[in-house]
Amino acid sequence: MPAIAVKGTHDILGKEADGYRYIERVFEAVAQLYGYQEFRIPTLEYTDVFNRSTGEGSDVVRKEMYTFLDKGNRSVTMRPEFTAGVARAIVEHKLYATEDLPLKAYYTEDLPIKCFYYGPVFRYERPQLGRYRQFHQAGVECIGVNSARFDAECICLAMQVLGMLGFKGLHLKINSLGDEASRKAYRDALKAYFAEHIDDMCADCHERLELNPMRILDCKVEHDQEIAKGAPKMKDYLSEESEKRFYQTLSILNDMDIEYEIDDSLVRGLDYYGEVVFEVHAISKTGADYGALLGGGHYDGLLEALGGPQMAGVGFAFGLERIYNVMKDDGLLDDLEEGLDIYVMPVGESVLDESFELVSAIRNMGYTCDSPLAAIKLGSQFKKAAKKKAHYALIVGEEELQRGVAQLKDLEKQEQKEISLENLEEELDSLFGEDEHEHHHHEE
Ligand code: HAM
Repeated sequence: MPAIAVKGTHDILGKEADGYRYIERVFEAVAQLYGYQEFRIPTLEYTDVFNRSTGEGSDVVRKEMYTFLDKGNRSVTMRPEFTAGVARAIVEHKLYATEDLPLKAYYTEDLPIKCFYYGPVFRYERPQLGRYRQFHQAGVECIGVNSARFDAECICLAMQVLGMLGFKGLHLKINSLGDEASRKAYRDALKAYFAEHIDDMCADCHERLELNPMRILDCKVEHDQEIAKGAPKMKDYLSEESEKRFYQTLSILNDMDIEYEIDDSLVRGLDYYGEVVFEVHAISKTGADYGALLGGGHYDGLLEALGGPQMAGVGFAFGLERIYNVMKDDGLLDDLEEGLDIYVMPVGESVLDESFELVSAIRNMGYTCDSPLAAIKLGSQFKKAAKKKAHYALIVGEEELQRGVAQLKDLEKQEQKEISLENLEEELDSLFGEDEHEHHHHEE
């Protein structure tokens, strides 16, 4: 049997990885604009971390986790999301407290804690369009200040990243799940409603009715969706305070010219949410729907569930595969490839050593450079240069080397001129423009 990647996982190679890296860099840059710092947390956590926070009523924890016993018989889980691990890290390092303060006391000047993260996550789901078992998230959490304004800021951040990546025609869906009392009242009302219809509904919904009746609203079974249409609406169960809070967030979005649709059926799949929740959807130009590009919302009890203080937070995570796939379909990744600055072409065995040194010197000047490092036929060297989308070829021959010169060929214009190797750096600087050279050095 040939070796293949594990079902639901996928390789991201070369040009594709360029696309992912580009998305991550834009994300990172915007997160920094908003005052976020990176957190790098382990891929593996004790299973308990997710049971206690992501939630025992959620599909993710109930049936999608990669959980196993390590060699010391401890139950560990490959993270299905970052939020629980971030909360665990904040509690473990008491980032909300200074050393001289007892647990549960904290200095407000340290708050909110604003972090961003990205990396692989794992969920044992049925693989399909836009759905993988190992995929990548990039997200933020803003923890320690309970405010509708920070909720709004978080949404602004998400929309700014997508705007900077070139997305158009996005659907921001938003809803409020209210505070705990609102949610309890709503859950009771849903239970009463669905109990009447449950005999006609799918097996999953039977479970949901017990564990988390709000999830029934998310059921994809058509007949169940019909029944769900007649269910009580969350907005009729919001406490006055939650309602006020929701409209405060919405009014900030209005002020920021961010368009949204209030979606009553948006309940989100993880247990920790309360108050505002949101998702962004997009249909690619090819008509493909890869699912939500991102999801997030506000939470209140997460740190407490992990042994920390009662502290609110808000956050979201992008699904990088989905972002990438829509961008690829929409041609938003077409101009990424910069190509190689210089391809050095040795002519004859006798110039190989000098060519090697030239390549190294050009790289040290900050220009991207490559070479076959072998005296192969010039014709194949030009083919290799074209493959690498090289802008210039530097052709190094023995007789010319003795005169301290080489042929520099503009591969686009097909123009060639002799240049002095002594002045190579000045030549290249004037060719590529000082600004760009600065930029090259910057990236080193
Ligand atoms: P989530 O909605 O479970 O939220 O996942 C966030 C995003 O990850 C989704 O919108 C989607 O783009 C992507 N995603 C989810 N499952 C898959 C999959 N099987 N294959 C490909 N992409 C997928 C969370 O994970 C929360 N931790 C977000 C959050 C942060 N809430 C507050 N803070």
